[in-house]
Amino acid sequence: MYVLGIETSCDESAAAVYHPRLGLLSHCLHSQIDIHRAYGGVVPELASRDHLRKLAPLVKRALAEAGVSAAGMGGVAYTAGPGLMGALLVGASAARGLAWAWGVPAVAVHHMEGHLLAPMLEAEPPPFPFVALLISGGHTLLIQVQGIGQYLPLGESLDDAAGEAFDKTAKLLGLPYPGGPKLAELAAQGRPRFHFPRPMTDKPGLDFSFSGLKTAALLTVQQEVKTEQDRADLAYAFQQAMADTLTIKCRRALEQTGLKRLVAAGGVSANTQIRRQLQDMAASLGGRVYFPRPEFCTDNAAMIAYAGYQRLAAGQTQNLEILARPRWPLAELARI
Ligand code: KG4
Ligand code: ZN
Repeated sequence: MYVLGIETSCDESAAAVYHPRLGLLSHCLHSQIDIHRAYGGVVPELASRDHLRKLAPLVKRALAEAGVSAAGMGGVAYTAGPGLMGALLVGASAARGLAWAWGVPAVAVHHMEGHLLAPMLEAEPPPFPFVALLISGGHTLLIQVQGIGQYLPLGESLDDAAGEAFDKTAKLLGLPYPGGPKLAELAAQGRPRFHFPRPMTDKPGLDFSFSGLKTAALLTVQQEVKTEQDRADLAYAFQQAMADTLTIKCRRALEQTGLKRLVAAGGVSANTQIRRQLQDMAASLGGRVYFPRPEFCTDNAAMIAYAGYQRLAAGQTQNLEILARPRWPLAELARI
């Protein structure tokens, strides 16, 4: 069964084709970074309008690159949330319309389940059960994953998401949107000099809080950052505090659950320092970390096509409704 995946939850329009036996056959993406950069963040209305312009050509390209015609398609999977309402609606209505026209089922996919399952597209997919660390622009979640749709929440951020903290700190340093990867580049020139807190690591529990880290960065920027080297040193200290905090919590989650496998996914998991520290930590416990390839850490349609296929194969489809849920708790998903 060929499945078309469509992703439009934020500032990337994407389409991909997945087949359970043949694997991922195509994945096409258009990033809106150039549109939003001037505003220092995503402008929801501009995002929706650009999805509207770019989605149809992307779908055509994904089908052509996969070498499948519309007639061969077995289902359409789309990101139904969480995300920006207008942006979600563009993908959801396009997907629902295509499914109707092709006479195939449509399935609404949870964006974070897409991220969580992205490592399944790699050569060595993680076997269940595992602990998942989902770190994106809007979410920071630790979950015990027993199977698809069996998500036991272990911890979450009580305030800013990890990616949001990266982006806000990058903004303080005058770096262009999206700040996370730019801050990581700058950190590579930095030296160990400033020390920031590792929030909530001295108390038991698996929740996160990153707003204090952001405030510590703000105060340091105001008081001590003047030269280019100061900026790099601050980026270094911030990234180090973030990597240490995430690693401490993941170690705790593995110890608490007795599991040896960790999945790290979502945009922030593209960060090489974080990847390295998580790998070292898991290895020290005799375990292993599974990441998506960097391009599938950030938003993409490959993960949506994959997650959608799993739910379609389990017979979980929607009727003719167009589902768009800006807020959608992962715990509400049905198990397969
Ligand atoms: O998963 P994603 O593409 O979109 C959401 O679902 O939010 O995550 C985007 C987030 C942004 O905050 C971005 O700055 C961050 O991931 N990010 C990074 C890196 N690449 C993307 N943060 C730190 N280091 C990176 N290399
Ligand atoms: Zn995402």
